[in-house]
Amino acid sequence: MQQKIIETKVGVFNFDELNFEYQQLIKTAKEQVYKAYAPYSGFQVGASVLLENGEILGGSNQENSAYPSGLCAERVVMFYANAQYPDIAVRALAIAAFTHGKFLKDPVTPCGSCRQVLLETETRFENNITILLYGTEQVYVLENVKQLLPLCFEKSSLNG
Ligand code: THU
Repeated sequence: MQQKIIETKVGVFNFDELNFEYQQLIKTAKEQVYKAYAPYSGFQVGASVLLENGEILGGSNQENSAYPSGLCAERVVMFYANAQYPDIAVRALAIAAFTHGKFLKDPVTPCGSCRQVLLETETRFENNITILLYGTEQVYVLENVKQLLPLCFEKSSLNG
């Protein structure tokens, strides 16, 4: 038997160490938590994307009394970006989460379904999407979605 070790590279930053553009992107994600509709979980998530043209868009989680009908913040903003700007690549995405009156201390990490959706946009535009995961003490920065989703199933997997 052989073993394969799969590594994920995560940059660990203080907020102040990030460049201005990434700070702005995180600021937008943080603002978005106040627009979340999360009456069932009380877990408010904000997400933002930076488009290739420099524009920043925001979104938040939207829950539903029929629980699975709700949607995470990452998918809300990514579907919105792709729906409104079908020809413009996404350069970066940031997320932040707020619960019990404060932002999470540890960086918030996206769920599996969101990772799969983010991967689709990354492969669709053949353009790495930098991922910024905000925590009050540290910000994790990943070079692309693939770092979040090793052994992924993607477009090219369909070719056999
Ligand atoms: N949620 C997100 O919006 N993004 C994540 O990365 C994790 C979870 C939402 C889904 C649900 O509305 C609430 O947070 C609790 O799971």
